[in-house]
Amino acid sequence: MTSAVPEPGPGYAASTHAAAGPDTDVVAIAPDPEVAAGIITETPLEDIFDADVHAKAQDLIARYPMSRSALLPMLHLVQSVQGYVSQEGIAFCAQQLDLSDAEVSAVATFYTMYKRRPCGEHLVSVCTNTLCAAMGGDAIYRKLQTHLGSEEQPLGHNETAGTPNEPGSITLEHAECLAACDLAPVIQVNYEYFDNQTEEKAVALVDALQAGKKPAPTRGAPLTSFKGAELQLAGFFPEDEATYRADVDGPSQAVETLRGAQLAQERGWVAPVASDVPLPEVEKK
Ligand code: FES
Repeated sequence: MTSAVPEPGPGYAASTHAAAGPDTDVVAIAPDPEVAAGIITETPLEDIFDADVHAKAQDLIARYPMSRSALLPMLHLVQSVQGYVSQEGIAFCAQQLDLSDAEVSAVATFYTMYKRRPCGEHLVSVCTNTLCAAMGGDAIYRKLQTHLGSEEQPLGHNETAGTPNEPGSITLEHAECLAACDLAPVIQVNYEYFDNQTEEKAVALVDALQAGKKPAPTRGAPLTSFKGAELQLAGFFPEDEATYRADVDGPSQAVETLRGAQLAQERGWVAPVASDVPLPEVEKK
């Protein structure tokens, strides 16, 4: 005799897990759905997500053959409203996609781009992965921790200097490799690149952000805010053609990145085409 495999969906998962309090990404066990519902949201969703957000959510759903595929962009959409994925944001996504809160929670707590606490106007990510760390990334991160906090109380990972969502507030995080090792050490602000950083440049950058300025990134789109970047990550771009063009046509390459390809071209080096390369033997079992 085989036991029935539980079908994913609200009837199954909502009765087993629910996201915990407003300031944590711990998933709590809540066997009683009524208890779970009480934990998840106390604010009516309509008070947070207006008609425009509902319309955008439906727009996202229409882009995929299966509605649940819209979950990742929809989480960015709720972040563009609140500056983080709140319990209400989780409930909103679940409601729109006919998923359980637990299913949405499981995704939101897996990816570091989904923030579980309110973010600052700007998110500053310092790469502290191996190459950037060796090139000064660790020192830059430590410098920003004390510059945005204090010697006695350095700002911690994912903590905010200033009041979240208020102008000039900055959330600091250390990040894994940001895929720009040839330009190390790098920082991102709202996921836009600032290459070849030093402690001095990084301090000047956050000082400018706190003063309400929007320094131009080394590459990519002009700087907006964390919420603005989240709306674009959700898949919604400026309708004004000039602003849209400035965003998508920003410089995307760096001299350092093209150096290898240029040397190969000058020297006539080519990679063997795939058909010239014998395929490895497949081990027989
Ligand atoms: S190690 Fe920092 S971008 Fe790769």
